[in-house]
Amino acid sequence: MTKKMTITSIKKTKGVTPLVMITAYDALFAKLMEPSCDMILVGDSLNMSFAGKADTLSATLEQMIYHTNAVAMGAKDSFIICDMPFGTYINSDEALKNSIKVFQQTPASAVKIEGGEDKAHIIKHLCSNSIAVCGHIGLLPQTVRLEGGYKVKGKTQEEREQLIRDAKAVESAGAFCMVIEGVKADVAKEVADSVNIPVIGIGAGRDVDGQVLVFSDMLGLFEEFTPKFVKKYMDGASLVKSALKSYSDEVKTKEFPQDIHTY
Ligand code: KIV
Repeated sequence: MTKKMTITSIKKTKGVTPLVMITAYDALFAKLMEPSCDMILVGDSLNMSFAGKADTLSATLEQMIYHTNAVAMGAKDSFIICDMPFGTYINSDEALKNSIKVFQQTPASAVKIEGGEDKAHIIKHLCSNSIAVCGHIGLLPQTVRLEGGYKVKGKTQEEREQLIRDAKAVESAGAFCMVIEGVKADVAKEVADSVNIPVIGIGAGRDVDGQVLVFSDMLGLFEEFTPKFVKKYMDGASLVKSALKSYSDEVKTKEFPQDIHTY
C-alpha cells in the first residue's frame, strides 16, 4: 500500500477490492504491517494478547490511547482505528466525551464501537460531532460475560434478520465501514450485500468486503487457543521459542558473543 487510506477511499473499495485490516498494539509491529495493510485496528483484544487477561472487558480508555499512540508512531501513513473499550460508550454523551479524548490525544482516524441497531443512536451522535465510526456487529466480544461465551451468530432466521437490521442501522447512522464477527458465511454475505459501506469479516467467510485478523493469532504467537477462523501464516511461537533457546544455549556455552559482536 502506498497511499494512506481515507474514509472516501475506504468506502470506494466496496465491490471493487477487498480491504485488508489487521490489529496492532505497538510501534514495532505496526511498522511491519504498514506496507501490507489498508487499515490498522488497535483492538481491545490487546487486553488478551498483550496484557494477558481472559477477555477484553477490563481494557481501559487510557490503555487504548497509549497503544494507539504507539501504533501511530510505527505506522505514520496508516489509517488507524482505535477500539472503544467496554463501558466507554454506555450513552451518547459518554461516547462523545471519550471519543473526543481519543481524537485529541491520538492521531487515530476513527473509533470502533460494538453493537448494531441498539447502538445506532450513539454512532449517529458521534458522526454528527465529527468522529468517524467503524461499526462492529455479529459476535461482540464485549458481551462475552453476558452471553456466557463467544457464540457464532446467524444460525437462526431471527438472528439473520437482526444482523441485516443491525448493518442497515449502523450504515444509516453514518458509519463508514463495519466489522462483522463470528457469523455464518452465507448470512455475512447477505449482510454485506444489504449495505453500501464495506463490511469487513472476521470468522464470517470470504463473501464480504475485506478481512481482519488479530495479528498475534495470524502470526501464531498467541498459544492460548486458536479460533477455527484463524489461519496461522507462520508458527511464531515456535520460531520465537527456538530462537530464545539458541540464545540461551549460546550464552551458557559462551558461543555468543563472538568477535564480531564485541567492541
Ligand atoms: O479487538 C479486536 O481485535 C477486534 C477484532 C476482533 C475485530 O475487535
